[in-house]
Amino acid sequence: MERWQTIIEPFRIHSVEPIRMTTRDERLRAIDAAGLNLFNLHADDVLVDLLTDSGTGAMSRDQWAAVQHGDESYAGSPSWYIFLAAVQELFPFRHVIPTHQGRAAEKILFSVIGGPGKVIPNNTHFDTTRANVEATGAEAVDLVIEEGRHPEVEHPFKGNMDLARLEDFLAARGADVPAVFVTITNNSGGGQPVSLENLRGVRALCDRFGVPLFLDACRFAENAWFIKLREPGQAARSVPEIVREIASLADGMTMSAKKDGLANIGGWLAMRDDALAERCRNLLILTEGFPTYGGLAGRDLEAIAQGLREVVDEDYLRYRIRSTAYLGDALAADGIPVVRPIGGHAVYLDARALLPQIPPLQYPGQALAVALYVEGGIRGCEIGTVMFGRHPDGSETPAAMDLVRLAIPRRTYTQSHVDYVIEVVRFVAKRAADLHGLRIVDEPAALRHFTARFAPVG
Ligand code: F0G
Repeated sequence: MERWQTIIEPFRIHSVEPIRMTTRDERLRAIDAAGLNLFNLHADDVLVDLLTDSGTGAMSRDQWAAVQHGDESYAGSPSWYIFLAAVQELFPFRHVIPTHQGRAAEKILFSVIGGPGKVIPNNTHFDTTRANVEATGAEAVDLVIEEGRHPEVEHPFKGNMDLARLEDFLAARGADVPAVFVTITNNSGGGQPVSLENLRGVRALCDRFGVPLFLDACRFAENAWFIKLREPGQAARSVPEIVREIASLADGMTMSAKKDGLANIGGWLAMRDDALAERCRNLLILTEGFPTYGGLAGRDLEAIAQGLREVVDEDYLRYRIRSTAYLGDALAADGIPVVRPIGGHAVYLDARALLPQIPPLQYPGQALAVALYVEGGIRGCEIGTVMFGRHPDGSETPAAMDLVRLAIPRRTYTQSHVDYVIEVVRFVAKRAADLHGLRIVDEPAALRHFTARFAPVG
C-alpha cells in the first residue's frame, strides 16, 4: 500500500500554452455561428478542450529531443528503423506499415479485405472504422457483451466481445468474415477495457473458424493497465509483457499513434501475413508514401518511438487512469449519470438519462454538449444518435446510447482544470430540465457529426 493517497502528475510543466478566457455571451455567439456544432468552433473560443484525446496530448522533453533527431531521407531513414524497433518491441508483427493516422491504416486494410458481401465483427466499431468498412460496401457488426450496452452496469471488462454471439455469428457467416476486430479499449462503448481471457476466447474462435484476428489498438497501454489492475493473476506482470501477450493473440493491428503513441500525428498497420502486407504496401505507396515513412515525416516517426517507451511507464499509467477516474467519480458522487466504471481516456455522461425530456432523435447528447460549452467553455463530444443514428440506406434510428464524451488529453490539463469541469457539469446537470432538443438543418452523407448544422426544435 502506498503511504500517500494523492497520485501526483509524474512530470513538471516545461512549456505552457495560454488559454484565452471568454464570457458566456461570447460563447453564445460563437456556438450560434458554428451551427450548434462544436467541431465548427475556433479552438481559441474553447476554455477546456475535451473534444478528443487524439493528437491533443503534450509531448515530453525527450520526444521533442527525438524530433530534432528526425532524419528526412526519403527511403530507409534511420528514424524509420528507430520507429520500427519501438513498435516491434511491443507488437512483434513482421510487417509494420506506417500511416499518417489510424483511419489511413483502416482505409488501406479494408480496401484490401472488405468489399460487398463481406462483414467485419468488432466489439464496437469506432466511427471512422465503421465508415471505412462501409465505404467498401462491407457491413460492420458490433458484438460487445450485453453489459457493455448499459451505461450504469458495472463490469471490470465491459469492452469484452460477446463470445457466444461471435461463435453463432461465425458459424452462420464465417465465410464472409475477412477478419474479426477487437477494439482496445472500446472507445465507443465508454473507453472500456477487454480482458486477456476474453481475447484468448476470441482467438480460439478465430482459430476454429479459420479467420484472422486484428486489434484496433489505439489505447493499448490503458487497456493493459486495466488488465494489470483488474484481471486475476496479472498484477505482478509488467505492462510491456501484458502488451506483448495481447499482440501474440492477434494476426495484425491498426493503430492511431495520436492516442497511446503520445504523439500529435501518426499511426500504423501491422500484420504477420506476407501476401496481405504486400497488397497493403502497394496501396500505401499510392495514397500515403514510401513504406519507410508512410504518411509521416522522419521527426514524427521518432516522436512516436519515444512516446511508445513513455506510455507503458507505470507511474504515467497510474496517474493517467486515476486522473480520468477523479473526474468521473466526482460527477457520479453527485448523482450525475455517467458510464460505469470510468473508462481509461474519457468520462462519458449519459445524456439520455440526464435529459429524459429530449427524445433520442432530438439529440440529447448534442443538446448537453452545447450547454456545457455555453455555460463553461468546455468542449465535449456527442457519441450517440448524431454520430451513429444515420445509416447507409438513409434511414435514421436512435443509437444504442446517447452519451457526451469528455475526453482527457494526455499530460495536458491539471487538477484545477478538472475541478473547474466538475463545477460546470454540476451546474448544467442541476438545470437539465430546462434544456431543449435539436434538429439537423444540414448534414453530409456520411460521418455527419463532423459538419452537420443544428437548430433548436420548435
Ligand atoms: N479507432 C479508434 C478506437 C479510435 O478511437 C480512433 C480515433 C480511430 C480508430 C481512428 O484514428 O483519428 O488517428 O484516424 N479516435 C479519435 C477520438 C478521433 O476522438 O476518439 P485516427
